[in-house]
Amino acid sequence: MIRDFLKVSEFSDNEVQACIDNAIALKADQKAGKSTPILQGKTLVMIFEKPSTRTRLSFEIGMFQLGGLAIDLKASDIQMGTRETIPDVSRVISRYADMVMIRSNRHEDVEAFADQSSIPVINGLSDTDHPCQAIADLMTVQEKKGPLKGLKMTYVGDGNNVCHSLIEACNATGVIITVACPEGYEPTMEGGDYAVVHNPKDAITGADVVYTDVWTSMGQEEETQKRLRDFSGYEINSDLMKLAKSDAIFMHCLPAHRGEEVSHDVVESDQSVVFDQAENRLHAQKAIMVAIGGSHV
Ligand code: CP
Ligand code: NVA
Repeated sequence: MIRDFLKVSEFSDNEVQACIDNAIALKADQKAGKSTPILQGKTLVMIFEKPSTRTRLSFEIGMFQLGGLAIDLKASDIQMGTRETIPDVSRVISRYADMVMIRSNRHEDVEAFADQSSIPVINGLSDTDHPCQAIADLMTVQEKKGPLKGLKMTYVGDGNNVCHSLIEACNATGVIITVACPEGYEPTMEGGDYAVVHNPKDAITGADVVYTDVWTSMGQEEETQKRLRDFSGYEINSDLMKLAKSDAIFMHCLPAHRGEEVSHDVVESDQSVVFDQAENRLHAQKAIMVAIGGSHV
């Protein structure tokens, strides 16, 4: 059976936890210099319709570490939807590669691609979801805090793609998540178990994990000024962090806009784990590829 990973919720709760545990094991193997070429001879095609640093590096280097090959197909070359239809590009790539990762402007395009694909499709960020990020995030929380069940996470900011996937990953692993956002910026996902509040101070008090993301995501640049006004008062700064548990960690998927959603000193503080998160993208992406692509012939 072909397994896609377009949303965290495509994995069962057990599969999400297993993926996190395997990512931690793959990281330990890599650090010990004994990684196994689990995906030897496999190929991953990557399509980026938006910029990327971490996702690009983690999939390409991750595939190399597992013995496979990653190919970056320039969105401007294939011009999916213009030069050639999404279903046709999908069926062609299926005849060459073993897996495909897409960073797309529109989630429905990723779904349309997956619909016609006979190889596993991974969502490397869409307007609604960022599932690969969420696996790396919960992996990081587990590394720093131990077993996930019962931990309290507070997400402060836009109820966006990162927030949606984080909610799904928290729900799968037993982390209790509260979202603090201005009115009109609540998560728009269907379902999900989370609380919404409009006062970040209330939400952060007693949290084990404080998470934020940019107020203006890629593709929303025209709304920047309005969003700066609407999110005023939602910056994670050291005063706000003092309300969380004294051993709370600060998380951000990066890139960060210092002085907007987070202050410079919080990013650079001892509580900040943002670069561990970035590193863990590598191992989380390997675990995802092994989970859905390891057995494809
Ligand atoms: N966090 C994240 O996805 O980073 P990139 O956009 O650089 O890939
Ligand atoms: N919400 C951000 C995440 C970037 C990794 C965006 O979509 O631009």
